[in-house]
Amino acid sequence: MSSSGLDKVRERHARAEAGGGPERKERQHREGKLSARERVDLLLDEGSFEELDKLVRHRCRNFGMEQSVIDGDGFVTGHGLIHGRQAFVFAQDFTVFGGSLSEANAQKIVKIMDLALKVGAPVIGLNDSGGARIQEGVVSLAGYADIFLRNTLASGVVPQISAIMGPCAGGAVYSPALTDFVFMVDRTSHMFVTGPDVIKTVTHEDVDKETLGGALTHNTKSGVAQFLAADDADCLRSIRELMRFLPQNNLDGVPPAPTNDSDSRQDLELDTLIPEESNKPYDIKDVIRRVVDDSYFFEIAEHFARNIVIGFARVGGTTVGVVANQPAHLAGCLDINSSTKAARFVRFCDAFLIPILTFEDVPGFLPGTEQEFGGIIRHGAKLLYAYAEATVPKITVITRKAYGGAYCVMGSKHLRTDVNFAYPTAEIAVMGPEGAVNILYRHELGRAQDPEQARQAKVHEFRERFANPFVAAERGYIDDVIEPHETRPKVIRALRLLANKVDTMPKKKHGSIPL
Ligand code: HXC
Repeated sequence: MSSSGLDKVRERHARAEAGGGPERKERQHREGKLSARERVDLLLDEGSFEELDKLVRHRCRNFGMEQSVIDGDGFVTGHGLIHGRQAFVFAQDFTVFGGSLSEANAQKIVKIMDLALKVGAPVIGLNDSGGARIQEGVVSLAGYADIFLRNTLASGVVPQISAIMGPCAGGAVYSPALTDFVFMVDRTSHMFVTGPDVIKTVTHEDVDKETLGGALTHNTKSGVAQFLAADDADCLRSIRELMRFLPQNNLDGVPPAPTNDSDSRQDLELDTLIPEESNKPYDIKDVIRRVVDDSYFFEIAEHFARNIVIGFARVGGTTVGVVANQPAHLAGCLDINSSTKAARFVRFCDAFLIPILTFEDVPGFLPGTEQEFGGIIRHGAKLLYAYAEATVPKITVITRKAYGGAYCVMGSKHLRTDVNFAYPTAEIAVMGPEGAVNILYRHELGRAQDPEQARQAKVHEFRERFANPFVAAERGYIDDVIEPHETRPKVIRALRLLANKVDTMPKKKHGSIPL
């Protein structure tokens, strides 16, 4: 090949790699952000990145745009390896037209998403963009819609992860919202449908962009994001960690992860971890860590709806999705946010062949007008629906309370959970003893000589009769009452038993989950 041919290729590649130039890159660094290429390098295994469409250019002729053309058009797209497994990635480069989406760079994303669907590999989007490229008008909007379609088609087929590492506003937020996991970087990332200025004009509300759509807001209040990263490097590290628990696609399953933690390990501390007093809080994460391999629990959405805990762990080398009521927050009640948080996770696990391990300690649904007016009926139904429809291996351990509708919802036998265990401390009944006695014996207690003493006697009687695991065990609703220290070996045996489980759904286009 002639040296001028090589020079031309090198020059075009160098132009693409320079992006918007050193000053804009420097500004990016000053703001605490990495450049798009630095991010891709940190995300992927060293030297594994294969870039696609590095020489694509925009075709806009409006507003003098023909004078400003940068090879690659500001988006870095391609594929590489994460822990040796294939993944697709796109990274928006804020130094090129503010990372805005054009017809040309939207097609770059569409290309990798179509490829990801064909080869069955995850897609990771690193977002840092001023939104639709204003100079291109509707052509850019069309690009967004093309991506939304791919996000939807890929949902449940390959895992999709979004990292918000700068602005992400307007309709642009809906691509991340359609993906399975959203990471946000503290202070430097923002997501909102309408920004502070529009809000001020329309509703006269004063709100700054951090309060409106910062990483903390979306991790604690809205639940839009599930991960809060300290900076770009932390965010990319966490994505790599999450990837260890994910399969390549909906047919593959997660590869087993070898561990030195013995299958037969029993943890005697578990026998005393659940307090005797049924209203005393404890941290369900202590239980989870004592059961799973190497005490390693990778929590998801840890700052949102803390009354339910979700995340990945491995048990005997098998990756499981853990769902657990958290007695340390709101007594572990189910409410709107905890129901939707867990429902989405259960459906993710089911779509990607990840067994679901449930730890249950739930006094019921959170009472109050706020919950009822907010639609706890509709939202609670989502979790019920998700558990009922899931056909992956399902194992439930009732550690303490399993009351009322919440008993049914949280992976009960009746929702075709395969293996159900209860601890001796389990209380399985229509409602708690106090509430039940007040309803059943209101008149009798009113006539008693010492109403308080009579009430306590009735509560004791109710607790002995109903608030225990044996009534359910006698019916086979739970398979066994186990000693807590046996949990790990019991769960491992159940997972091995269910490794080749087949369960089906009636033939239908899709269900109509109560959205
Ligand atoms: C073209 C854009 C752009 C855009 C920013 N730039 N946004 N160019 N289209 N959407 C350019 C700027 O002109 C500037 O170019 C460079 O990117 C950096 O922008 P700055 O404003 O200097 O950066 P900063 O002060 O950090 O502000 C970032 C910003 C702001 C908050 C994102 O740029 C902004 O508000 N942009 C417009 C956001 C917007 O309204 N987008 C459309 C949303 S509607 P120079 O050459 O000066 O460096 C939408 C619809 C999607 O996206 C619909 C999907 C269905």
